[in-house]
Amino acid sequence: MRWTYLVGMGVGLACLAVAQPAQAQDAKKPPVMTHETAGREQCAMCHGGAMEGIKAMPAGHKGIANDACTLCHAKDSPVQTATPPAMTHDVAGREQCLMCHGGAMEGMKAAPANHKGIDNKNCTLCHKPAK
Ligand code: HEC
Ligand code: HEC
Ligand code: HEC
Ligand code: HEC
Repeated sequence: MRWTYLVGMGVGLACLAVAQPAQAQDAKKPPVMTHETAGREQCAMCHGGAMEGIKAMPAGHKGIANDACTLCHAKDSPVQTATPPAMTHDVAGREQCLMCHGGAMEGMKAAPANHKGIDNKNCTLCHKPAK
């Protein structure tokens, strides 16, 4: 009786320890597309909420362009395997992200190799300014 109680406590505490950081890093992992991209580039045509029987994208997606959807929903998206770190600075005056994070500027963290082809305008979809 006492033994099972202690084991139960242990499991409970272990869960707490695991659950906390996951929550602090916010957000759910985007579901991976269950179809190819080719021939389906107009994502919002089907996932915009007007097409019966097809999952509508969440309300928070408002303003995201079709050509940015696969940045998160492709199976090889950087967000499928890691959580994007927050920026340690504001965006204002720093819109040219790759000028500093493109790998050419000494002493600044370069965007990882799996970021190849991502435009400056799309960086903030995943990286939010530090609060
Ligand atoms: C011709 C219609 C059509 C187009 C265009 C389309 N999809 Fe889909 N998509 C579907 C259908 C149908 C499914 C499977 C059932 C569902 O999710 O409603 C699906 C599934 C998905 C899922 C899985 C949803 C889940 O919760 O499992 C994601 C994510 C997704 N699509 C993203 C995209 C993205 C990103 C694009 C653009 C590159 C796109 N889709 C273009 C019809 C479409
Ligand atoms: C910055 C990353 C990101 C981008 C860019 C993005 N999504 Fe998502 N998407 C998510 C996340 C995270 C979820 C899961 C949210 C949730 O379930 O609350 C999601 C969920 C979805 C779903 C599933 C909704 C459901 O009910 O299960 C669809 C469909 C979808 N997105 C379509 C799109 C389309 C279309 C675009 C482009 C217009 C897009 N997404 C762009 C992160 C993204
Ligand atoms: C003028 C140079 C400059 C510009 C432009 C700039 N950054 Fe930064 N960024 C820095 C510096 C310096 C740091 C802190 C040290 C470091 O990470 O190299 C930093 C930190 C970061 C971090 C934290 C990295 C980590 O691992 O903790 C992210 C993420 C980031 N920036 C993303 C962006 C994005 C996205 C943009 C564009 C909206 C941007 N930065 C524009 C200089 C810049
Ligand atoms: C689809 C989401 C997504 C987009 C868009 C995105 N990133 Fe990232 N980024 C990530 C993830 C996830 C990581 C963490 C990678 C890891 O830890 O393996 C990351 C890491 C970084 C880092 C930290 C590298 C380090 O060594 O710590 C920098 C800097 C960065 N990104 C800059 C950028 C810039 C600049 C852009 C736009 C050109 C951008 N990111 C667009 C998801 C994204």
